Amino acid sequence: MDASSVQGDLVDVMFTEAQIQAKLAEMARQIERDYEGEELLLVGVLRGAVMVMADLARALDRHVEIDWMAVSSYGSGTKSSGVVRILKDLDTDISGRHVLIVDEIIDTGLTLSWLTSNLASRDPASVEIGTLLRKPEAAKMDVDVKYVGWDIPNEFVVGYGLDYDERYRNLRDIGTLAPHVYG
Ligand code: IMP
Ligand code: MG
Repeated sequence: MDASSVQGDLVDVMFTEAQIQAKLAEMARQIERDYEGEELLLVGVLRGAVMVMADLARALDRHVEIDWMAVSSYGSGTKSSGVVRILKDLDTDISGRHVLIVDEIIDTGLTLSWLTSNLASRDPASVEIGTLLRKPEAAKMDVDVKYVGWDIPNEFVVGYGLDYDERYRNLRDIGTLAPHVYG
């Protein structure tokens, strides 16, 4: 779906599909350099990271493995609850592996700070984080992020995997949700 199809629901288009692809290509080049000669396992955080994973993994000109975790930290609203639960765990044993967590957004940082220490306790060779978006003003936890696409203002955004109440994930672009939609 294109932003023009939900124009009235968006305050603006923050990043177009083309801008997102260009940014992921940049991030892929850094990842290729940093993990040269190492095996790499990408761990996607369901469901929001599906689009980032699909495009970032294909932008990488090397072999990677892909696995998924599902955690819940949000209800159906726009505010973080701070409570993290594993809904689906990895199928992969990560001990001795280089792990890169792939996510679409870091808001408060609660989810990824919890997830990073959870994965770190499984004795991997390394655990790093790559995220397309980050909201520095919303940070409640200091999370060490190795790859960031863009830092964005503290606004609720949708599209490219990001949802409001499970909608807008299939929007090609990323846009700021208009308050009337959730207000
Ligand atoms: P946290 O606050 O960093 O723990 O963010 C947890 C999750 O909240 C993210 O992975 C997203 O799924 C969701 N989230 C945070 N900010 C937004 C947003 O602006 N739009 C849509 N989902 C968001
Ligand atoms: Mg998410």
